[in-house]
Amino acid sequence: MSIKQKLKSNKLIREIGKKINIDYQFRQDAKDFSKNYVEEAVKKGDFRYSILLLVHSLEKGMCMPNPRPYGLDKVKELIGYLNAYSETRREEFEYQLGVSALFAWTDFFEKHNWQSELAYNDVIVFLKDKNRNAGFQAGAKLYRPGDTFVDAKVYEEMFLSRHSVRDYQERKIDLADVQFALKCFVETPTACNRQMCRVYYIQNQEITDLLNHVVIGVPGFNKKTVQYFLITYDLASFAYSGERQQGLFNAGLCTMNFINGLHAKGIGSCCLQWSNKYKQDVEVREKLGLRDSERIGIVVGAGYYLDENIIPCSVRRRSEDVFQII
Ligand SMILES: Cc1cc2nc3c(=O)[nH]c(=O)nc-3n(C[C@H](O)[C@H](O)[C@H](O)COP(=O)(O)O)c2cc1C
Repeated sequence: MSIKQKLKSNKLIREIGKKINIDYQFRQDAKDFSKNYVEEAVKKGDFRYSILLLVHSLEKGMCMPNPRPYGLDKVKELIGYLNAYSETRREEFEYQLGVSALFAWTDFFEKHNWQSELAYNDVIVFLKDKNRNAGFQAGAKLYRPGDTFVDAKVYEEMFLSRHSVRDYQERKIDLADVQFALKCFVETPTACNRQMCRVYYIQNQEITDLLNHVVIGVPGFNKKTVQYFLITYDLASFAYSGERQQGLFNAGLCTMNFINGLHAKGIGSCCLQWSNKYKQDVEVREKLGLRDSERIGIVVGAGYYLDENIIPCSVRRRSEDVFQII
């Protein structure tokens, strides 16, 4: 027995070791958060999430029951970020969204006759040579849920029939069949609509081999048929310490919608926890070429459903076990 094994066989030493490890891993996460959160991103010239945060705030101001002139500092801050975009980057989503939100804001001020506000004029000057037609429209809109809910029953059946599967047809996933899942992914609600998550479909054999090797929960899968998607989140989107757990939470919501979208198109999947230690996480991120501020949320194993699968029953608690009125 090696010294390491001997130490590990001692319950107390194992417990202390685990606690030291937990502390170390959380500290690394804290350091990463401080190094990459939204204000640090701005220092590095990355305004994407600052723009999204400002746009969200301006849009919400248009939905208040008793609106007052608002957002006077925010529009100026937004213009500051937009002005920093070079001509070549003005097709980017965040730039276009910022401009569209400013048009909506001026429309809103005009509707309420608030043109005398100083900031209004600054925005008009900025928008003078800008194009209203971004292909989408920011601002506020009327939403009538009754108009969109056609057949709740179909939705219920689809939603409740998904199960994790770990073997798949020996067939490459057609990108056309992923489009609906991607739509589900982008339609997922995220905190302040910051949309900080991304999906990578891994086709590179070297990276597939790496994931086969490092993903902790993959034993038991048919490695010949599993294809991987990787879901990430971006630390550059978070504003302050209270948001330290936002990344995984938002990635979780996006992943759920994504795998339901795959399911609707006949693609089975299984989430694979990314519980890897910090060092390995860094290694894989580097291999994937992720942004410095981007973090892995989860890996999804997927492929077309086999006609029949043997799966764990994964028995659920009763609804009343998880529900309490306080
Ligand atoms: C965040 C998350 C991580 C998971 N990690 C693994 C994993 O590493 N290996 C695995 O075989 N299954 C994994 N699963 C699948 C769960 O075991 C499965 O979803 C659960 O048992 C419920 O079964 P169902 O998906 O068939 O309804 C994971 C699921 C989630 C949501």
